[in-house]
Amino acid sequence: MYREQLNPTPYSVPVKEPVLDYEAWLGQKKNKPSVWEKLLSLKPIEQEKDLEIDHAYDGIKELNNPVPAWFNVLFFGTVIFAAGYLFYYHIGGYGDLQDQEYVNEMVKAQQEKAAFLEKSSNTIDENSVKFDNTQTVLEEGRGIFNSNCAVCHGDKGQGIIGPNLTDEFWLHGGGINNIFKTIKYGVPDKGMISWEKNLSPKQISAVSNFIMSLKDTKPVGAKAPQGEKYEEKDPQDNEMKSVKDSLSKTDATKE
Ligand code: HEC
Repeated sequence: MYREQLNPTPYSVPVKEPVLDYEAWLGQKKNKPSVWEKLLSLKPIEQEKDLEIDHAYDGIKELNNPVPAWFNVLFFGTVIFAAGYLFYYHIGGYGDLQDQEYVNEMVKAQQEKAAFLEKSSNTIDENSVKFDNTQTVLEEGRGIFNSNCAVCHGDKGQGIIGPNLTDEFWLHGGGINNIFKTIKYGVPDKGMISWEKNLSPKQISAVSNFIMSLKDTKPVGAKAPQGEKYEEKDPQDNEMKSVKDSLSKTDATKE
């Protein structure tokens, strides 16, 4: 106690940060360049004297300012990118070049087109079906006819139980649209079934076109004509009509 009285242990006094006054704070702020200033490599206006280049044109002076940081980053960035690009596409061959990319896109487009056609051909109905006498369609139609229809209509469409399909006389109307309709819905009471469930719209379209191609083939043993004579409009007219129909349809949806 006595000793403590004589020589007291000093209390640890917390060191206080000196509180800056406003002026001092401003000064400190000025000396510390902001991010913006760093990015643009701006020099404080006081240093302008040192930057001045020693020539003047009509009193216009030039400063030797440093290249801004953002420019350097961009510039060296492109150099590095170019090296990487060169390696990836041309030296290493990891990426496809334009020509190959073009080919790839075309292949993809073709696949998409095929898929689209496949899909849209399965939405054909008796109104939208088109006359089509391309070889592949007729071949497909022939195959379907031989395996499904020939038992009743004869292998040449000459008619057995079912009527002759090669003449101009039709019980339910000739022409691609009527034929499609008859095949799709059938005439169940008279022994011609509806094929809607067994054949896809595309297949019905193909077999309808095949039947169209049988016209006037005059097979031996042809069954006598049944029904009424059907005046065939130019199939081209039919095509024009369906084109017009689809046009007016798209017009209608636009409105
Ligand atoms: C079981 C026998 C049978 C089979 C199988 C059959 N049909 Fe028929 N088909 C008939 C009969 C019977 C008629 C006549 C219906 C009537 O008298 O109204 C007919 C009528 C038709 C007509 C209408 C002819 C006209 O004069 O208007 C078409 C087109 C037709 N068939 C196409 C086909 C196609 C295509 C197939 C195969 C996918 C097929 N038929 C399979 C029995 C058959």
